[in-house]
Amino acid sequence: MPQVIEVCPLQELQPGEMRLVEWEDVEIGVFNCGGNLYAIEDRCSHDDGPLAEGEFDAEQCTVECPRHGSLFDLKTGKPMTLPAYQPVDTFPVVIEDETIKLEVE
Ligand code: FES
Repeated sequence: MPQVIEVCPLQELQPGEMRLVEWEDVEIGVFNCGGNLYAIEDRCSHDDGPLAEGEFDAEQCTVECPRHGSLFDLKTGKPMTLPAYQPVDTFPVVIEDETIKLEVE
């Protein structure tokens, strides 16, 4: 069974914004792309770069790894450019009682 963790009130994560949350020893970046919310693990699949700190393009719904520049699709966790070639983990986002929550397992 997935566990549900709280991120923040919906109104505290506006379009174009990102928030980091921690679950056990996993850091997760939650991104608001024009009103749609996506969550990916904050660890690049190439060399463990801090993905969520990279440049976030809310229009394209991508983030660029600050370490070597791979571009990741936030919807799927898949890299769109090298050097990363494996996807990063994604987490389902749910909104309940005006609160953003994540399903983790
Ligand atoms: S660590 Fe992200 S591209 Fe290398």
